[in-house]
Amino acid sequence: MALGTANAQENVLNLYSSRHYQTDEGLYANFTRLTGIRINRIEASEDALIERIRNEGERSPADVLVTVDAGRLWRAEQLGFFQPVKSALLDARIPANLREPGGLWYGFSLRARLIAYNKAKIKPGELASYESLADPKWQGRICMRSSTSLYNLSLMGAMIDHLGEQKAQAWAGAVKANLAREPRGGDTDQLKSVAAGECDVTVSNQYYYARLARSAKADERVIAEKVGVIFPNQASWGTHVNISGAGVMKNAPHREAAVTFLEYLASDQAQRYFAEGNNEWPAVAGVKPDNPVLASFGTFKRDAINVAVLGRNQPRSQKIYDRVAWK
Ligand SMILES: [Fe+2]
Repeated sequence: MALGTANAQENVLNLYSSRHYQTDEGLYANFTRLTGIRINRIEASEDALIERIRNEGERSPADVLVTVDAGRLWRAEQLGFFQPVKSALLDARIPANLREPGGLWYGFSLRARLIAYNKAKIKPGELASYESLADPKWQGRICMRSSTSLYNLSLMGAMIDHLGEQKAQAWAGAVKANLAREPRGGDTDQLKSVAAGECDVTVSNQYYYARLARSAKADERVIAEKVGVIFPNQASWGTHVNISGAGVMKNAPHREAAVTFLEYLASDQAQRYFAEGNNEWPAVAGVKPDNPVLASFGTFKRDAINVAVLGRNQPRSQKIYDRVAWK
């Protein structure tokens, strides 16, 4: 695949990333080898990075922001961070539903929000959809993280799109009434709670499960062994999926290099590095993940809505969680 060429004064790229994985060295070194563009990396947690760019203002040296969740990319978009990119290559490689329609940001890997359950207590056929978590039979048996979590806000964004706001709110209220405890912790904490029997079922992104399953620590592998996962809504609108993605900053000092970098991220080799770093699926169709846990899942029906909808619905999602007092 031909990558755009950068001119001599643009042989540097300032990359702000909230992703940092073992595969990064290979990902970035390969880019520099192919293009001659050196990468300066600024790494911080998701929200810290957005705050930093905000504080830097118009003189921010950032060329590209890489972060996770379409809901967070939407927040960055709302802050006016990005400029639109027009690239025939990106349009051809990245599925239309995994990028912002105006080219402000692009998804480069895919995550799915799964139902996870305690195998000793639940048979897989008992749960087939997110909607089924609202059944009163799960009273006192569900663990969930807080409603301020972007993962839950984005899931609600999809539910609003598919069910309408009224039904989505009824769902949230019913799931909240089924909680075994107040929402707390991250996805890994929910999986640990399920394995420990504090609750029987939860939702989690697949890579938290995969990390436990592939862990070097035996006690973490035991957690994964006790937990089964379900790809919800295979008979209806598909499993809720989200992205890790990137956009070119509005005031990028090295705009051409920034576009070249996004195009590079869509290449077969970079797709494998980018997805594998976090046990995610490549965004580009036809690039096979080299990951034993993802391979064990097989293929599944994904929600086809544009991930930009998840961000657009975010204010409504938060209101729904607030109205049902989901902490
Ligand atoms: Fe995460």
